[in-house]
Amino acid sequence: MKKVRVRLGNRSYSVHIGQGMLDEAGLLLQDLGFSGRAVIVTHPNLRKLYGGILEESLASRSFKVSVLEVPEGEEQKSLETAGRLYEELTDAFTERTTPILALGGGVIGDLTGFVAATYLRGVPFVQVPTSLLAQVDSSIGGKVAVNHGTMKNKIGAFYQPRLVIADIDVLKTVDLTDGLAEAIKYGVILDASFFSYLERNIDRIKARDARALETVVYRSAKTKADVVSQDETDLGLRAILNYGHTVGHAVESVSDFGISHGQAVAIGMVAAAKISNRMGMLSDADVARIKELIVRAGLPVELPLLEITRLMHAMKHDKKVLQGRIRFVLPRTVGEVVISDGVNNSLVEQVFLEGK
Ligand SMILES: NC(=O)c1ccc[n+]([C@@H]2O[C@H](COP(=O)([O-])OP(=O)(O)OC[C@H]3O[C@@H](n4cnc5c(N)ncnc54)[C@H](O)[C@@H]3O)[C@@H](O)[C@H]2O)c1
Ligand SMILES: [Zn+2]
Repeated sequence: MKKVRVRLGNRSYSVHIGQGMLDEAGLLLQDLGFSGRAVIVTHPNLRKLYGGILEESLASRSFKVSVLEVPEGEEQKSLETAGRLYEELTDAFTERTTPILALGGGVIGDLTGFVAATYLRGVPFVQVPTSLLAQVDSSIGGKVAVNHGTMKNKIGAFYQPRLVIADIDVLKTVDLTDGLAEAIKYGVILDASFFSYLERNIDRIKARDARALETVVYRSAKTKADVVSQDETDLGLRAILNYGHTVGHAVESVSDFGISHGQAVAIGMVAAAKISNRMGMLSDADVARIKELIVRAGLPVELPLLEITRLMHAMKHDKKVLQGRIRFVLPRTVGEVVISDGVNNSLVEQVFLEGK
């Protein structure tokens, strides 16, 4: 078992990472001073797979558990579903001290976190991430949100969990590729030795070797926690977590989300590496290293057949754009990035054309 601490004063919390962690949930909650009722929010399929283990662990420490089910899909991250959950929480006699556990991927985590942040002006929230993406990224840092119309993740809050429980065993039933893109991202932005570890172990990781997966989640969680501890509300350093996401978000939206988040970020990481290379910052050898690891992880590196004018338009209208300047996170070498508002649009277009 490994532990990562997110340091945010009196809102600090731990991320517990390891095999068999679901069995420890009751004890971990008790250690934080919780007792009485607890609520689990999850998808029906995840309830069948892992809900029983989690419920049993809580019941063994005398918690009275209610389980609320949410169908699968990004469309459930909505005010409508949040509204239904508020009613079900009331029916389950949830009080201001009742912890709400999100058992699922990023959809369950973001939705449940939003509900926990707002119900009774905030009830204790616990993340139990089950996808690799959720374990390495979305469960840490307190960004919670729902979508509304075309506004993705724009109705939300910063609301930190009290605890994150990342059980490596649950990763055996889920696709890992999207999460691997984010793990590679941490290597490029801040952790060269982790990048090398990924290069040496990518085949073991894809074969779901438990020790290797534990290392991937631990090293990723540690980097995310360090960044969040320094910049909780995304005013400075946290921007480096957007490496690959400037182009990635545009690819996702122009493809009408036909291309998954991790795939889009992979394409975006390669595009940003090439831009940095053309600006004389990143060496040819480092571009090749980044590209090769992404390919070996099973992720795409080429831009799909999307209209370049639409991609440029989407980037200029991203929520991260300041005064019309597209912001890029550019690697200088593996393990170090700079943030640049000074990338020439024609250079971006040129890299897109080459990538096709
Ligand atoms: N809050 C943040 O900081 C943050 C960061 C990145 C992404 N996100 C959000 O995360 C969401 C994507 O998360 P995701 O990729 O985890 O997708 P997801 O939550 O939709 O999960 C993907 C699918 O995998 C299934 N699944 C999850 N764990 C499983 C397991 N262990 N076994 C079997 N099936 C399992 C789910 O039921 C679902 O069908 C998006 O809504 C995105 O906006 C949030
Ligand atoms: Zn991402």
